Amino acid sequence: MGRLIIASNRLPVKIEKNENEMIVTPSAGGLATGLKSYHKGNDSVWIGWPGIIPESKEEEKTVTTLVKEEQCLPVFLTEELISMYYDGFSNATLWPLFHYFTEYIEYRRRYWEAYLKVNEMFADAIIANAKENDRVWVHDYQLLLVPNILRKKRPDLKIGFFLHIPFPSYEIIRVLPWREEIIEGLLGADLIGFHTYDYARHFMSSVKRLLGYDVDFNQIKLENRQVFIDVFPMGIDYKKFEKLATEIQSKSIQERSRVHQDIDRFLMGMPDRQLILSIDRLDYTKGIPERLKAFRHFLKEHPEYIEKVSLIMLTVPSRTDVEQYQNLKNEVDVLVGNINGEFGRLNWAPVIYFYRSMPFENLIELYSSADVALLTPLRDGMNLVAKEYIASKVKQRGVLVLSEMAGAAKELGEAISVNPNNIVQTADAIYKALTMNDEDRTKAMRTMQRRIKRYDIYKWASEFIKALDHTIDRQMDYHARKVSTRIKSSITKDFTNSKSRIIFLDYDGTLQRFFDNPQAAGPDEELYDLLNSLSKIEHTKLVLVSGRDRETFDRWFGSKNYTLIAEHGAWLKNTGEGWKERKPVNSEWKENIMPVLESYVDRTPGSLIEEKTYSLVWHYRKADIELGALRALELVHDMSNLIFNQDLEIMEGKKVIEVKVSGINKGTAAAEFLMDNPADFIMALGDDWTDEFLFKELPESSHTIKVGTENSVAKYFLNNYKEVREFLDELRKAK
Ligand code: UDP
Ligand code: G6P
Repeated sequence: MGRLIIASNRLPVKIEKNENEMIVTPSAGGLATGLKSYHKGNDSVWIGWPGIIPESKEEEKTVTTLVKEEQCLPVFLTEELISMYYDGFSNATLWPLFHYFTEYIEYRRRYWEAYLKVNEMFADAIIANAKENDRVWVHDYQLLLVPNILRKKRPDLKIGFFLHIPFPSYEIIRVLPWREEIIEGLLGADLIGFHTYDYARHFMSSVKRLLGYDVDFNQIKLENRQVFIDVFPMGIDYKKFEKLATEIQSKSIQERSRVHQDIDRFLMGMPDRQLILSIDRLDYTKGIPERLKAFRHFLKEHPEYIEKVSLIMLTVPSRTDVEQYQNLKNEVDVLVGNINGEFGRLNWAPVIYFYRSMPFENLIELYSSADVALLTPLRDGMNLVAKEYIASKVKQRGVLVLSEMAGAAKELGEAISVNPNNIVQTADAIYKALTMNDEDRTKAMRTMQRRIKRYDIYKWASEFIKALDHTIDRQMDYHARKVSTRIKSSITKDFTNSKSRIIFLDYDGTLQRFFDNPQAAGPDEELYDLLNSLSKIEHTKLVLVSGRDRETFDRWFGSKNYTLIAEHGAWLKNTGEGWKERKPVNSEWKENIMPVLESYVDRTPGSLIEEKTYSLVWHYRKADIELGALRALELVHDMSNLIFNQDLEIMEGKKVIEVKVSGINKGTAAAEFLMDNPADFIMALGDDWTDEFLFKELPESSHTIKVGTENSVAKYFLNNYKEVREFLDELRKAK
C-alpha cells in the first residue's frame, strides 16, 4: 500500500521570526488542529505553506529543516502570491462566496491567475514527492484545482479531496466567473468528502447544472471514470482533550496556570458566578457582532445577572491583510467597548476580550471552566470548538449554545440551537443555558460526548482513507468490464469466425447522442455509412431496436437493408417488407392516462408528451434537472395506482417515463426474431433501462454491451455513442 501525502494551504505548524530566531508554533483553524493528531501517528507527509516568506536561501533551508521535523514539506510563496492567491482569490473571493457573503466577493482576474499558479505549484510539489500509487489527500478551498492537475499529470495516484468549509447552493456558486473550472478541478479526485449531506447535495446539484454530468446516487459519471461523493463529519482528538481536562481538574490551586488561577478568582468573586465562553478566529462568518448584541440584549433583559456572569471572548487574529477582517476588528472593538462601558463595574467587566491565540493548555482551562459555550457562527463548515468544549467537560457541567448554521449542529442535536441572526432568540438561549438544571445539562452533555467520542479524528480520517481505497477497487471493477482492446479483439475474432451474425442496436444514446429536440437526432452521413457497410457484410443481419415511433424510423431507415423494431418491440419491419404489428390491442386506455400526463406537462415547464401506438411517453429532458427528476418520481407513483389491474406497464428510460401495453418490450421482440433467424454470433448494444430486456432475453453466449456505466446485466460497457461508432467501425473493417 502506498504512502499518504496530505496537502493543504497551511501546514499544522507555522514558522515565525522572533528577532533573529525562527520559532515553530501550532497553526490555528480547524483543518490544522484537527488533522495534526492523525498525521503525527502516521507515515504521512504533509505539504503546505509554512506561513513565512524567507528572506534568503539560508532562511529557506532553516524553515525546511524545522518543518521536516514535523513530517512536513514547505511550499514557499512570494509576497505577491500571498496577496493575490491567499488574501485575494482564497479569502476575498472563495471564502465569502462559499459562506454566502456574496456582498464581500471580489472578482479579479489577477487573483484567479495567481490561484491557478499556486495550485500548479502545489501539484508539482506533490508530484515531486509522490511514488507510484501513493494516496494524495488534498484539503480545502485554497486548493480546489489541485485534484484535476494531478489527475492529468499523474493518473496513477489515488486522489482524495476534503472540503472543510460549506459548499454553497448552486444559486450562489453560479455567480462566480470561474465556476466550471473550479468544479472540473475538484472532479479530478476519486473521492470528494464534505462535512454534511447538505454540502454534498449542493455540490452534486452544481455538477449536474453547470457541467451536465449524470449523477447516480453518490457517483458522478464522467466520460472515462467515476467520482464518488461522501459525507464525513470531521471529529477531534477526543481523548487528548479529555485527558488534559481531567489532569487540569485534578491540579491543586497552586499548581494551576496563571490563566486558570485568574478564572478561579473570577468565579469565586461572587457566589453563583458563571462564565460564558466563545472561541473563534476573528472572522465575519463567526457571528461575533451578533453574539455581542445578543449578550447585550440578555443583560438588558436580565439585570439580575450583572456582576454574575461574564462572556470571555477569545478571538484569534486571522487574515489581517484582508479589508473585511480589518473592518470586523474595528466593529468588535467598538461593540465590546460599548457593552463594557454601559454595564461594567469597577471590579467587573461583562465582556473579557482577548485578541490573540492561546496555548493549548489554556484553551482546555477555558473550556473546562466555562459554564456555557456560546458559539454563534452565521455560517461555519463544521466548528470544531463546539466539539472541543464537549470533550473537555469531563464532569458534564456545561451547556452548549450552538448556531444552527454550523455543520456541527447536525451532530449536536442536544445543544441549545439558535439562529444567530435572531438576537432575541439568542439572548433567550443564554438565559436558558444559565438556568438549566443539573440533570438536563448532564444528560445532554453525556449524549453528545458519547457521539463525538466514537467518531473522533482518527475514525474520521481512517473512514475517509478506507472509502478512498474502496473507490479505487470500484474503479478497477469498472475498468474490468470496459470494452478493452483485448475484449474488442475477442469479439472481433468471434465475429469473423462465425457463419451467421445478428447485431441488435438501440438508436438514441447508442448510435446517436441525445438532442433537446428528439426530432433533430436523425442519422448523419457517418452513421448511415457505418450501418450500410455493416449490413452489407455477408450473412450479417443488422436489427435496429428502438423505442422510437415507426413513422420516424421508417423515414430514417425504411429504405435500408436492415430490420427495424420500433416502439419497444410493438412493430417489426423486415428488409423489403411492410410493418407488422406484433400484438394488436385497442387504445382506449390512453383516454384515462393522457389527462394525467397533461397535468404533469402543465406543472413541469419544458416537458412534453409523445403518443405512440402502444404507449404514451412523458419526456422531461428539457425540464429543470431537479424538478424533472422529482416529477418523474411522482408520476411513477401516480401511474402505478392508475394502471393497477390493467394490461399496462411503466418504463423509466433516460429522462422519459413511458406507459405502455405490457408484454411488449425489446427483449420479447428480439427473442421472436431469433427464433426465425438463428445465428451463431449475436451482439446487442443499448444504453438505457429498456435495453436491459434485450440483454436479458438473449442467449448466454451473446455479446451484450451497455452504453454508459450504470448497473446493467450486460457483460461489458462502452462509455458513449462515439465509442460505439468506433467499435462498429473496427468490426466492419475486420471482415
Ligand atoms: N484554536 C487554536 N488557538 C487558539 C484558539 C483556537 O489553535 O488560540 C483552535 C481551536 O482549538 C480549534 C480551531 O482553532 O481547533 C478552530 O477550529 P474551528 O473548526 O472551530 O473553526 P475554523 O477556525 O476552522 O473556522
Ligand atoms: C478554516 C479553513 C482552513 C484554514 C483555517 C485558518 O479552518 O477551513 O483552511 O487554514 O480556517 O485560516 P488561515 O487563513 O489562517 O489558514
